[in-house]
Amino acid sequence: MPPESRASAFRVRGGTPLEGTVHLSGAKNSVLKLMAAALLADGEVHLTAVPDITDVPVMAAVLAGLGVRVDHDAVAGTLTLAVVDAVPTTPPRDAVTRIRASIACLGPLVARRGEARLAMPGGDRIGARSIDLHLDGLAAMGAEVVRSEADVHVRAPGGRLRGARITLDFPSVGATENLVMAAVLADGRTVLENAAREPEIVDLCRMLVAMGARIDGVGGPTLSVEGVPRLDGAVWETCPDRIEAGTYLVAGVLTGGRVRVERVRAGDLTLPLRKLRDAGAEVVVEDGAVTAAAPRDGIRPVDVVTLPYPGFPTDLQPQMMVLLTQADGISRCTENVFESRFSFVDQLRAMGADVVVDGHHAMLSGPTPLHGAELSGLDVRAGAAGVLAGLVASGDTLVRDVHHVDRGYAGFVARLRALGGDVERVDA
Ligand code: UD1
Repeated sequence: MPPESRASAFRVRGGTPLEGTVHLSGAKNSVLKLMAAALLADGEVHLTAVPDITDVPVMAAVLAGLGVRVDHDAVAGTLTLAVVDAVPTTPPRDAVTRIRASIACLGPLVARRGEARLAMPGGDRIGARSIDLHLDGLAAMGAEVVRSEADVHVRAPGGRLRGARITLDFPSVGATENLVMAAVLADGRTVLENAAREPEIVDLCRMLVAMGARIDGVGGPTLSVEGVPRLDGAVWETCPDRIEAGTYLVAGVLTGGRVRVERVRAGDLTLPLRKLRDAGAEVVVEDGAVTAAAPRDGIRPVDVVTLPYPGFPTDLQPQMMVLLTQADGISRCTENVFESRFSFVDQLRAMGADVVVDGHHAMLSGPTPLHGAELSGLDVRAGAAGVLAGLVASGDTLVRDVHHVDRGYAGFVARLRALGGDVERVDA
């Protein structure tokens, strides 16, 4: 666990423009799935650009409970994973319930070991409906699915799944990943329609192909997977974290500064960069780097609609809302992926923002001066957004429950301080 994680709150003092460069980590939402894919391999999976975030050791604990040897060097950012015991099919409950991404073990376990029994990931907060697409897809591939209050038991009769044609109701990131990982070792061809196509899914598919999987249509809405009998290991560099990139770029613009992010794929950030330009920011894209600088004549209002990729990412919506509190005029924000994301709005209002929510629409009128407040880091992105709000607020802001932020942002405090932000970790 990174040393910074021991204390539980961030104290932020606003007023300093952020200036400087951030070298991005590997993507949280990629590395956790790349780790799960090690369950499918006959050889070692060696990952680089592994972010130093607390979700990685939790996922490592899930996999260790499933007979995977995990060698993690947090400083070097490397992970080596190898299956040493292919018998367990039930990952440890305490680790599974701490991390939503543990659901990504379901497809690989059923495909490779013929069955899986999983506690509901994330417990009550996530709700029972949230893995129906995963389970319906596995059932279409011949699996027997038995759900109880506490867990889900999925079994492939005869130990093998069979290829199927599956059309997702919604392009779910997690369901797409699980079903692709199930399909790579199934008998025959699986066609997955209305698949999610987030860059992290592309990263996973490409690593699976490097392991010997046969996947067509990578990056598009229809994936066609021809099952193979076995997969090798791989050496793979985790793709850069586009959400981390967006968070620092927004922070630079918001605070009247200029932030450059390196090791970025600008093509993964098309809409966020366009929205920053629409807001008046000066955005410069170079090979492997993006710089965003605050407008000289004030931030302009923009409308943002979250949608599955290539739509505007829901994981950048709270940070963008903070920026729009400082725009001169009315901005609208529509959340189509996770309705609970608007729970952050109450905190923004407590800091002085003028935001009216109607269902999954929010209307922001600005600019409104923000003042320091005590916030709770409700989730990883709301926590980061709370810190951003604190960076433009008058007085001190205290963001509590920052273990959520530590789950997804490597060295958040250190990086903000390197950019000149007045942020520190405190016991609270
Ligand atoms: C992943 C990301 C998360 C991101 C989200 C959308 C990880 C670890 N997390 O989450 O950061 O915000 O993608 O980009 O990668 N749903 C169902 N039934 C299902 C599956 C999903 O109803 O079987 C619903 C969910 O409740 C949610 C929506 O679909 O409202 C999106 O979920 P999904 O795309 O699956 O996101 P996650 O994989 O959970």
